[in-house]
Amino acid sequence: GARRLWGAHFDVDPAPLMEQINASIDFDKRLWAEDIEGSLAHSRMLARQGIISEADKVAIHAGLGEIGEEIARGAFSFERALEDIHFNIEQRLTEKVGEAGRRLHTGRSRNDQVATDMRLWTRKAFDRAQDLLRSLQAALLDQAAIHAGTVMPGFTHLQAAQPVTFGHHLLAYVEMFGRDRSRFADARRRMNQSPLGAAALAGTSFPIDREMTAAELGFDAPMRNSIDAVSDRDFALDYLASASICAIHLSRLAEELVLWSTFQFGFIKMAEAFTSGSSIMPQKRNPDAAELVRGKAGRIIGHLQALLVMLKGLPLTYSKDMQEDKEGVFDAVDTLELCVSASAAMIAGMRVDAARMRAAANVGYTTATDLADWLVRAKNVPFREAHGVAASAVKLAEGRGVGLEDLTVAELQAIDARIDASVQQVLGVDQSVASRVSMGGTAPENVAKAVAAARRLYLEE
Ligand code: ARG
Repeated sequence: GARRLWGAHFDVDPAPLMEQINASIDFDKRLWAEDIEGSLAHSRMLARQGIISEADKVAIHAGLGEIGEEIARGAFSFERALEDIHFNIEQRLTEKVGEAGRRLHTGRSRNDQVATDMRLWTRKAFDRAQDLLRSLQAALLDQAAIHAGTVMPGFTHLQAAQPVTFGHHLLAYVEMFGRDRSRFADARRRMNQSPLGAAALAGTSFPIDREMTAAELGFDAPMRNSIDAVSDRDFALDYLASASICAIHLSRLAEELVLWSTFQFGFIKMAEAFTSGSSIMPQKRNPDAAELVRGKAGRIIGHLQALLVMLKGLPLTYSKDMQEDKEGVFDAVDTLELCVSASAAMIAGMRVDAARMRAAANVGYTTATDLADWLVRAKNVPFREAHGVAASAVKLAEGRGVGLEDLTVAELQAIDARIDASVQQVLGVDQSVASRVSMGGTAPENVAKAVAAARRLYLEE
């Protein structure tokens, strides 16, 4: 076991299957930059504290710098026999600078090292989530501004309910992604503490300075408890939980894009660049990208489940099970980032058929509520009674195969004598949306103001 950094007391080499199940280098090589960053901070601190010599620190830094360059230009050979990114880099460092390299691990363990690396890596993902979601909100806001007055049917139970404006509908997603951003921001704030210096689990007998390494690595403070520091993966759960909720929002948006772009709805045309044709049906333009955003949500949610289940029975502190945190987090981050970017591009590139939306808003008796509201407002009819009158009018129009606005005043009066000609002013879809001026309501003037407010709130920080 000569090559193994822990092998001195072993008589035999690991079985090939052991190497296969144990090695994480194939995926944790993604942590190389964070691993080097952590080692630079650690060795600087060791030198400052007089635990290693200044000369050793200089050698370590030079070696780590070269290793970073080797990895960046693809010239580093990662070895499974060296298990993981930590051992691969440390071994190469020792090859390069000799004994100084063997002093780097003083007062440190792979347990606090990997916890530090993962935090640093995930912290960047938290930051990218902010930027990507901001871009998605910007794309939604641009369309919402254009379509502040574009009338469409609003749905409940996927049945036409009341007319709304398309801009208002898009602003609903702006709010969802705003909450997602605040979830990511909360989690980032909570996770920004340094495990480095917890060592294996108990702390160390060396006079280390954890405040110094925490500050160097951009953490707000060292984690207070060494046992917690090496055991905790809450930050990864927080990312995955926030990502899962965000993925659900993306999936609901994607589902609506799929639905709206059907021939039957015809509300939008997807940007052609985000669709594909069919190998057999010549007329097809399938919304593959939106379907994949919807489908990939399952993967992100799955990674959250996997990590929750992996952690649930683990005793403190570190167990090798925890090495399984990485692939799920990496894949969830990649998947979420791809889905947010693709969604922003699809929103920016879609073409809206406003006439088609408006026509759809006009069918399905979507202004029946307006008729009931008018009876309440103009004739002081109790709402429950007004609801019954409007329902009778719907029934009459339905039987006739016409819209509410096509009924004559005489026909309406036959249902309820209190109705007069002025009711016709409220039965159109434009009047309906224009009347929804309550706070948070769909009236075009509200939407225009809401777009401006959302731009200030979400885009200007
Ligand atoms: N590759 C390991 C992981 O990702 C590093 C920590 C190993 N620590 C240990 N005590 N074996 O979890």
